Amino acid sequence: MNRLLSIACCGLLCAWSAGAQERAEKEKEKEIPEKNPFDTPADAATGRKYFLGHCASCHGSDGEGGRGINLTTGRYRMGGSDRELFKTISRGIPGSEMPGSRLSDNEVWRLVAYARRLATAGAEEKAPGDATAGKLVYETKGGCVQCHVAGGRGGNLGPELSEIGMRRSLKFLRQSLTDPDAFVADDYKTVTVVTRSGERITGVRLNLDDYSIQLRDTKENLRSFLKRDLKEYTLEKRSLMPPYGTALSATELENLVAYLSSLRGKP
Ligand code: HEC
Ligand code: HEC
Repeated sequence: MNRLLSIACCGLLCAWSAGAQERAEKEKEKEIPEKNPFDTPADAATGRKYFLGHCASCHGSDGEGGRGINLTTGRYRMGGSDRELFKTISRGIPGSEMPGSRLSDNEVWRLVAYARRLATAGAEEKAPGDATAGKLVYETKGGCVQCHVAGGRGGNLGPELSEIGMRRSLKFLRQSLTDPDAFVADDYKTVTVVTRSGERITGVRLNLDDYSIQLRDTKENLRSFLKRDLKEYTLEKRSLMPPYGTALSATELENLVAYLSSLRGKP
């Protein structure tokens, strides 16, 4: 009986302290100013220096994106107010490659000032192609559906594209189509294994540790191998996505880019 009581008490106490912690967080959040207190051109110029040192390796030196997303569109999944940008940049985005920073508040605010100017600099580059025609290429001749989900359907060998227009610049999209090897995200590296019986299997690497390899093969089966059962395995630089520079005409490519650029998730 006593034990039950103490378990119940402990549960209550934990719930209470978790609640208190949440309230403290909320209080702290209220202390973050709504408007950027460091928003002069000089602040933004200092912010640019921090950006080149801490952010450009992923977001590109002009914010055009790469491993990180394009920051010139002015659209933000986590919200675009000064306070929201401050929170994103200081805490990062859990579950993504976007890390929290160890910069001081004043430094983060100057980054917010710079991020704002990046967004107005490249705001709304408009794709010249025809998005409706591009959608048709995507679904038919391009065969993109086979490997990509957009709007809820498609294959899973490549990354989901439902928000690609928000994340990637037109330049990046064009290059993805004509030269997919130029950038391959960490989660989509190509691996080829050869088993002892001589079977050769290529796919997207899911996991690679000291003893084993897991991959998603080109038919989308999950395959798992012990390294000691393999004749060889190679992590490749190339993408599993075929280049489309010759398979599609210049007009078809521009239309596809316009379609991809129009994919911006739910409004
Ligand atoms: C290791 C790579 C990496 C570094 C370094 C990095 N980012 Fe990011 N960042 C990302 C990725 C990936 C995303 C997209 C995350 C997502 O939406 O899933 C992102 C997203 C963002 C976003 C958009 C958030 C939104 O709401 O859509 C902002 C703003 C941003 N980063 C700013 C910065 C700044 C400023 C720095 C430097 C202090 C920085 N990032 C450093 C990878 C990085
Ligand atoms: C055989 C499977 C396959 C086909 C077919 C395919 N892709 Fe891909 N795609 C991938 C893989 C795997 C990646 C990830 C590696 C990389 O970045 O190249 C990728 C990456 C991409 C990216 C870059 C995403 C990013 O944010 O880095 C875009 C854009 C893209 N594909 C669009 C398309 C379009 C449009 C088509 C049709 C014309 C297409 N893909 C056809 C497998 C495929």
